[in-house]
Amino acid sequence: MRPLIGGLSMTESMFTSYRNNPWSNSLTARATRRCPSFPTTPTSGCTFSMTNSNAFDHSPVMVEEIAELASNLPPGVFADLTLGGAGHGVAVLEANSELSLFGVDQDDIALAAAGAKLATYPDRATMVKTRFDGAADALRDAGHDDVSGFLMDLGVSSPQLDVAERGFSYRHDGPLDMRMDTTQTQTAADVVNGYSFGELADVLQSYGDERNAKRIAQAVIDGRPFDSTAALAETIANAMPAAVRRKSTGHPAKRSFQAIRIEVNNELAILGTTVDAMIAMLAAGGIGLVLTYHSGEDRIVKDRMRRTIEAGVPAGMPPQSNYRWLWRGARTPSENEIETNQRARSARLRAITRIPETADIS
Ligand SMILES: C[S@@+](CC[C@H](N)C(=O)[O-])C[C@H]1O[C@@H](n2cnc3c(N)ncnc32)[C@H](O)[C@@H]1O
Repeated sequence: MRPLIGGLSMTESMFTSYRNNPWSNSLTARATRRCPSFPTTPTSGCTFSMTNSNAFDHSPVMVEEIAELASNLPPGVFADLTLGGAGHGVAVLEANSELSLFGVDQDDIALAAAGAKLATYPDRATMVKTRFDGAADALRDAGHDDVSGFLMDLGVSSPQLDVAERGFSYRHDGPLDMRMDTTQTQTAADVVNGYSFGELADVLQSYGDERNAKRIAQAVIDGRPFDSTAALAETIANAMPAAVRRKSTGHPAKRSFQAIRIEVNNELAILGTTVDAMIAMLAAGGIGLVLTYHSGEDRIVKDRMRRTIEAGVPAGMPPQSNYRWLWRGARTPSENEIETNQRARSARLRAITRIPETADIS
């Protein structure tokens, strides 16, 4: 580990990528011209439309509920596997002075923003750059064999969506990129321009619940190659039946962009095993929280938690494992939160707890 700011620690690889990150040296740099692509190697005068770390503007979903749950956790480590701008992370630290935060993200920009916020808690926060399926190993490498709690707040952050150069957005034109970890090779352009009709239709259907997956896949095949998000969004919108376009409340390309992003970042493939690995690390009295934003994610999370709770128990019999649902089903944000934060609209929070050792599990 190497110190970052006032003792906040980072792994060696994270330190290197942080140091090489053009935004990390001067988090208050102002935009002077737009970068040709993003992220880029440090280039003088080249910055992007998010002008400072405070501009990592992401409202954490159900943050009050999560802070309240954290306030009752036993002392120890709280692992945030999707640290983002550390909105939840800071709320957890504030809610419970006996917790330290172990934050994981695969996105350098998110880590830079989180680092700036967490500098206020130099002795209580550690950040590691890794995909979340590396989190359990990273925790053990750092000497933590269990955790008091963990959180996964899946998907992308608002800044990832809003910075056109990152290529996630159907609203702002940018390169067809969509990589959260920009060192990864596969981009959205590879998926859109390289996949067969069947593969594309399957991605759109499975990861976007897109009813018009085949029509869209055919239009994409006919229109490619694509190199910009705007051109792709327009082709997708035009492929929709007119009646669907008229009725649609959101952008017609929203589901397809979500599906392509999930494919590019391999988001679902590692979700189940990560949930399992983190549940196995829960200390007695600890809780695991996962915020999902679409049905595919939620199914996986629910299934993994249920299997742990019901392990080896015949249907209808009371659970005998050391794990329980913290509540039945999924909790959702309040109407008020949904009104003020669009991203909260589809959120579902599931929670599992490992019962305290003294509790009677019969
Ligand atoms: C919804 S945002 C989290 C926002 C955060 N809770 C906050 O309060 O600011 C999701 C974050 O998870 C990261 N992420 C998504 N999938 C990941 C994965 N497989 N491994 C590591 N980080 C991931 C994204 O880069 C993004 O920063």
